[in-house]
Amino acid sequence: MKINIAIDGPAGSGKSTISKEIAKKMGIIYVDTGALYRAVGLKLVNNGVTADTEPPVVEILKDTVVTIKFVEGAQRVFLDGQDVSDLIRTQQISMMASKCSALPCVREFLLEMQRKLARENSVIMDGRDIGTVVLPAADVKIFLTASPECRAKRRFIELSEKGDNTPYEEILKTVIERDYNDSHRAIAPLKKADDAIEIDTTPIGLQESIELIYNTILQQVEKKGQK
Ligand code: DC
Repeated sequence: MKINIAIDGPAGSGKSTISKEIAKKMGIIYVDTGALYRAVGLKLVNNGVTADTEPPVVEILKDTVVTIKFVEGAQRVFLDGQDVSDLIRTQQISMMASKCSALPCVREFLLEMQRKLARENSVIMDGRDIGTVVLPAADVKIFLTASPECRAKRRFIELSEKGDNTPYEEILKTVIERDYNDSHRAIAPLKKADDAIEIDTTPIGLQESIELIYNTILQQVEKKGQK
C-alpha cells in the first residue's frame, strides 16, 4: 500500500530530524522540500540575482535543473548536475530560500517534481505547504510547531556543535524573520491544513516527539483503513 505523509511547520520545529527517523521506522522515503528551495536560492546567489522582482528569476529558472537522488536512503540535492546538499546549509541560503520561495515562478518550478515523487513512492514529505498545496489528499497531515525561542535554542546548539559561533540573539532574529516571510507570503504560505493534526514540541524532547508523531501517524493510517 502506498502512503503519503505531509509534515509542515516553521523552521526549526524538528520536522526534518523527526521525519527522517519516522521514514526509517516505516521503510519509506523522506523528502526534504526545503532543500529544493535552497538549491534555487543558491543558484540566485551564485548569479547575483536578489529575488526582489520576478522577471530575472524567471530567466534564471529557464536555465536551472534541480534534481534529487536518494543515496543509501538519504536525500541528495543536485543543482545543474552538482551535488549541493552541503552548500545549501548556510544562513545566507536560508534567507534566500525563504525570500525566493515567495515568488510564484519558483513555487511553480518545484511543484510537479514534489507531486511526482509522492505519486510514485510512499513518502514522508516535509515543508511549509505540503498538506495545503502540494499533497492536499495526503493520507496523514501533521503540523509541527515550537516556540521561536525553543527553535532558536535548538539551532544554536546544532550550530555550536559544528563550531559555528553565531550568537543566540542573531539566530532568534533570523527564526522570527523567516517565520514572518514564510507565513505572510501571498502564495502557499506556511499554514496548518484544516485536516492536519497540530503538535507542539516545545515541552518535549526529540525521542518523545518522534514516538508521539509516529504513533499519531499509525493511528491515522489505521483510522483511514477502517473507513
Ligand atoms: O525547511 P527549510 O528551512 O530548509 O526551508 C527553506 C525555505 O524554503 C523556507 O524558509 C521556506 C521555503 N520552503 C517553502 O516555501 N515551501 C516548502 N515546502 C519548503 C520550504
